[in-house]
Amino acid sequence: MFPKAWREARAQEEFRGKASAPANIAWVKYWGKKGHQLPANPSVSLTLDKCRTHTDLVATPASELSVQLVFEGAEQPAFAEKIKKYLTSLSTELPALARFSYSIRSENTFPHSSGIASSASSQAALALLLGGLLAKNSNTELDLPGVGNLARLGSGSACRSLFGGFVSWGTSPALAGSSDEFATQVTDVHESFLHTRDAILIVSSKEKEVSSRQGHTQMSAHPYAAARVLEAQAHYTATLAALKTGDWERAGEIMEADALSLHALMMTSRPGYILLEPGSLEIIRLVRLFRRESGVPVYFTIDAGPNMHLIYPDEAHAKVEAFVRHELLRHTEQGAGVIWDQLGAGPR
Ligand code: PMV
Repeated sequence: MFPKAWREARAQEEFRGKASAPANIAWVKYWGKKGHQLPANPSVSLTLDKCRTHTDLVATPASELSVQLVFEGAEQPAFAEKIKKYLTSLSTELPALARFSYSIRSENTFPHSSGIASSASSQAALALLLGGLLAKNSNTELDLPGVGNLARLGSGSACRSLFGGFVSWGTSPALAGSSDEFATQVTDVHESFLHTRDAILIVSSKEKEVSSRQGHTQMSAHPYAAARVLEAQAHYTATLAALKTGDWERAGEIMEADALSLHALMMTSRPGYILLEPGSLEIIRLVRLFRRESGVPVYFTIDAGPNMHLIYPDEAHAKVEAFVRHELLRHTEQGAGVIWDQLGAGPR
């Protein structure tokens, strides 16, 4: 639900704004939808710092909706068309949005070919700007749940990019104030998680064969759908508890299980598909071996793709860096390598 003032807003004033939003990596994944872009299960993610999208928007009142998009210096009519569709769908509830001409310039801080999904950071940045436009045209303050709703309707996981640190999305009895419509920050976090790092190993930067959208859709008829929801709920509750007590071992064990579950669900969909590459499997094996032999608390998670995220506390950085350089780099794509990121403070 959007604020009443936004629903009644009129397109009167030009809006100019800049926003920058980070990417996020889920420790417990959102996989499968219900209703209108609502998550089948609660999820929790770490907001990144360096991987971000910067967006500039100029929106001028107009008789008809139009969108021009320049991404990293080049005009992108296909992307512009997608944003136009998104705005048109929003305009049933927020009619003012269809009465602007939008000029959007956007860039990512992470390389194009890094294989990192930019939908969360870009949709979060756009949602912040649309929220600003609606606030200005209704003489109200920026409404964060409203912005969360705008982000979620663009790309589900984008609503988690609106906060720093650890962020939850999806209704759960384990977190007061949690909602399916927007994300909330997880504030009860032990200090040992406050300097979490994420080394992103680019195994392949090729565009993936099956989109997340298709993957979510396949979950509705998936033979393991009900079991997945129960499992994700348990993973979510246990992760919040581990974040609170500073239990890296438990959080890590769940994060790995949840990532492998996501990929197992893809493999057992009809038709099934595999996004992992041989290099991803080799990295999984080596991370587990290194952890067992060295005692360094480094764990992996994987998004909907072949690239590997190594999650570890800041104190372990020197050891993890040496391990990555000596043993893992050879399993990454030539020229793409590693993005060294960490917990970030959220959008600007
Ligand atoms: O936000 P979407 O619709 O692109 O789906 C994201 C799904 C995963 O990245 C695989 C999991 C997650 O929770 O981020």
